[in-house]
Amino acid sequence: MSELLKGTNLTKSFDTPFGSAVILNGINLKLEEGSIIALIGESGGGKTTLFKILMGLETADSGSVFMLGKEVGRLRKRSFAECASIQYVFQDPYASMADEATVISTLSEPARLCKRNHRDYLEPEEALVLAGLPGEEFMDRKIKSLSGGQRQKIAIARALITLPQIIIADESMSMLDEGSAQEMGSIFSRVNKLLGISFIIVTHNKNILFDLCTFILVLHQGKIVEAGLKEEVLTSLQAEYTRQYLECMLNIEGRTDFEQNNVRKSYG
Ligand SMILES: Nc1ncnc2c1ncn2[C@@H]1O[C@H](COP(=O)(O)OP(=O)(O)OP(=O)(O)O)[C@@H](O)[C@H]1O
Ligand SMILES: [Mg+2]
Repeated sequence: MSELLKGTNLTKSFDTPFGSAVILNGINLKLEEGSIIALIGESGGGKTTLFKILMGLETADSGSVFMLGKEVGRLRKRSFAECASIQYVFQDPYASMADEATVISTLSEPARLCKRNHRDYLEPEEALVLAGLPGEEFMDRKIKSLSGGQRQKIAIARALITLPQIIIADESMSMLDEGSAQEMGSIFSRVNKLLGISFIIVTHNKNILFDLCTFILVLHQGKIVEAGLKEEVLTSLQAEYTRQYLECMLNIEGRTDFEQNNVRKSYG
């Protein structure tokens, strides 16, 4: 399996009124072709910061990012092919798309850039269908007229257009109801199989975590405290933080040991 994306020894601090705060402290990660990694961690723990560093939107204080074996720097120093190969679905679909733009103009721009750079791409209509918003009625709608969930689907359609090898999705299901989140999980699974796109996602949805993801990474207090195949991580947890997180997620606190074991087994 080839290694699509790798981060080595990534560190990042931010200045705060109380001094410098270390957000990421020697992070190592790798995404292999075909994988879907779930990144888990507390709010404010540095997940978005890590994603921005991988995308070249933020500079690490130290450490390196490699794509397909080649070290890549900030976004503006990356080639078009490098930029197109990795797409980011932002956490906030209200901040990541222009309100006054139409759906068709939002989706046509990456298609136009691919055409100009002789890169294969998906037509906006195809991307929209894959993202679960079929129907021409959406094409002329303004972004500001869409619901949060519909915006997130447009953001995913936009990410698919360049036929990337990697999609980084930062809580892109957070505005969806349970049914739509499941639908989004199916879409990710389908494009993973059909188009060979690999994912790193932040999700707090237990069905997405257990059914969709193949790898788990847990970020806690600036460090990766669990990393590996989902089945391996779940059967031999290394960190108390992960145990508490999963118990909260599975809502199994207060149940007997026997019940808790059964819940864990059903997801192991
Ligand atoms: N540009 C910045 N300047 C200063 N502090 C920042 C900056 N960006 C992020 N931070 C701080 O870094 C920490 C990590 O933020 P980040 O957004 O990466 O967390 P997160 O894990 O994505 O959180 P959430 O789950 O709430 O989205 C937070 O304390 C945040 O306030
Ligand atoms: Mg975040």
